Amino acid sequence: MVLMTSQPPSPAQVHMVHDAATGLEGIIVLHSTVLGPAAGGCRYWSYPSASEMAVDAFRLAEGMSYKNALADLPLGGGKAVLRRTGGAVDRSRLFEAFGRAVEGLRGDYVTAEDVGTSVEDMRAVARATRHVAGLPPSGRRPGGDPSPWTARGVFLSMKEAVRRRLDRELADCTVAIQGVGHVGAALAVMLRDAGAKLLVADIDPGNVDHVVRATGATALAPDAILAADADVFAPCALGGVLSHETIGRLRARVVCGAANNQLATSEDGARLADKGVLYAPDYVVNAGGIINVAAEYLRWSNQAVLERVMATGERLMRVLDLAAASGLPGNLAADQLARSTIAARAVEMQPQAA
Ligand code: NAI
Repeated sequence: MVLMTSQPPSPAQVHMVHDAATGLEGIIVLHSTVLGPAAGGCRYWSYPSASEMAVDAFRLAEGMSYKNALADLPLGGGKAVLRRTGGAVDRSRLFEAFGRAVEGLRGDYVTAEDVGTSVEDMRAVARATRHVAGLPPSGRRPGGDPSPWTARGVFLSMKEAVRRRLDRELADCTVAIQGVGHVGAALAVMLRDAGAKLLVADIDPGNVDHVVRATGATALAPDAILAADADVFAPCALGGVLSHETIGRLRARVVCGAANNQLATSEDGARLADKGVLYAPDYVVNAGGIINVAAEYLRWSNQAVLERVMATGERLMRVLDLAAASGLPGNLAADQLARSTIAARAVEMQPQAA
């Protein structure tokens, strides 16, 4: 096992992880530890090159710093990205080796599931380190699948966003959900209960059938959902769906969903604002999952998770108020608020002069 550490000019720490015995190859980026240990999931994905893997890890780690800061969590931001290669691997041994790398950071980084990793993988990580969350819940302690919490935060945010932009309630809205997996399906049930009209699409027909049966939603083809005649577009599948090519086709006046990195570039936030679309920044509204993960690691109660997730709509309002006052698009207002939150805490934590 090799754990190589370097300090680039930015405050981020970069740790390359490599273990020839198990085929582990990856990178752990700690973007910020100002507010607490850097927390963010472990992605296991195919990358054409090590540099593309590193770019993804930096971008994701920065996003986690901002997400955790705005969710008022005592956590910094980090991310692990492991490269999936074509060869056969023993997943259990590979993730245990990754756990040893996490343990080597002595609590500066806390990992959990992300794209391509599962509860089973985190169990293997936990054989080597206690700095891991996303394990099955024990007793009345938080844990397990965070998706229902993520869906709850998105739902509460959407309610506030349609009031602000459309001066309406969800019962008078049509919501188009792209992707009805773990989060999208839970969101659909909450929206049905609130009386919203639902349009749904997914590339997995089984997921569509399940949601249509559970909620009475109307199914659309995956390539029709973005331009559907809806008041709200809720991206709950992949990142990068809002770009200079797609924004022109969007008909909804509110975008609010769970997917990470919905904007292809940060300029797309201004494109949406120029078109009169209220964009609810992704990492502000989808923090329910990391709140649940944080509670598991920090041994908070389920009640603490509930209180923090229920405040998601208010946090979105703070960001949108700043956007209105500053003239910034919502995504940049969120970044600015997150950076100033981290900077203010850094100052507070300086030793006081006598
Ligand atoms: P999931 O994998 O359960 O669901 C994603 C769904 O999107 C799948 O049903 C998939 O078939 C569908 N899909 C993929 N490409 C599509 C396309 N082009 N058009 C339509 N549907 C498509 O994932 P999950 O957990 O529901 O997460 C959804 C998004 O929210 C992801 O971007 C994830 O990173 C993000 N997120 C999830 C959190 C959680 O607690 N699960 C927390 C924060 C963010």
